Amino acid sequence: MTPTDVHNMPPPLLPPAAAFSHLPRVATRVLTMEDQPQWSALRDEVLSDLPDPDVYVREDDESAFFEAHVGPRGQTIGVFQGEHLIAYSMIGFPQSGEAGHLGAVVGLAPELLDKVAHISSCMVLPQWRGNGLQRTLLAVRLAMSQAHGRPNCLAMVSLRNHRSRHNLMRLGMHIGWTGDIGGLQRHVLRIDLQSGTHFDMGDERLIDSADFAALCAAGRDGYVGVGELRDADAGRVTLRFVRALRHGALPR
Ligand SMILES: CC(C)(COP(=O)(O)OP(=O)(O)OC[C@H]1O[C@@H](n2cnc3c(N)ncnc32)[C@H](O)[C@@H]1OP(=O)(O)O)[C@@H](O)C(=O)NCCC(=O)NCCS
Repeated sequence: MTPTDVHNMPPPLLPPAAAFSHLPRVATRVLTMEDQPQWSALRDEVLSDLPDPDVYVREDDESAFFEAHVGPRGQTIGVFQGEHLIAYSMIGFPQSGEAGHLGAVVGLAPELLDKVAHISSCMVLPQWRGNGLQRTLLAVRLAMSQAHGRPNCLAMVSLRNHRSRHNLMRLGMHIGWTGDIGGLQRHVLRIDLQSGTHFDMGDERLIDSADFAALCAAGRDGYVGVGELRDADAGRVTLRFVRALRHGALPR
């Protein structure tokens, strides 16, 4: 098969997803350039409805962002009800030295930079939330990262995006770094699907999710965020950090 043949093939349909069997007429497929109008419309709807604009900041160049996630350097999975796009999630395969490489942001060892997958954008239309879509789409993206030989998965999240951080942590990602990215206060959540991470569970720090300075310091001091305590009445989230154990032979 020539590269042209591959290009002309219809987008692959993913196998019927048992995870979506409770949702009527819902199916998934990989998006192509032709899907950009639907993708943009979904983003417009979600971004116009955010409770806090810091939770998700639009890309400077939306088209370039989409293009980077439908080619060899990334993929986008769409969730459809009938023909209607109700959710999507993206994965990126950044190159060493590329601007915005999260591995460089968190100080990953140089030899690991080409083993990184970006667990990139995910959105669910408001009326479809509460069905576990982000978590299911995360599980798919972790499997894709493994399949691409990129077991170091990194995701950037706003400190105020409690739902997204919760969903990522529930599937085993931990807060590996907190700091300033492009003028925004952001966590980078991590999971190393190859080596895993060991924690000293007896050495913990409880930190308010809005305490930027303490969150940055925890990352610098070798602590990672593994859990949360929610105070729904006060609208606060306290994050639980434990010390990550570095084993001498393993690179960070
Ligand atoms: C983030 C998003 C994709 C998740 O969609 P979803 O899969 O439908 O998930 P929900 O929004 O229903 O979140 C439900 C989970 O958040 C948890 N949650 C809700 N409020 C929370 C809070 N204040 N603190 C912590 N967790 C919270 C719920 O308990 C639930 O988890 P559980 O099933 O373990 O109990 C969706 O809300 C969205 O599109 N948001 C706007 C765009 C965005 O923020 N994208 C992610 C960028 S990183």
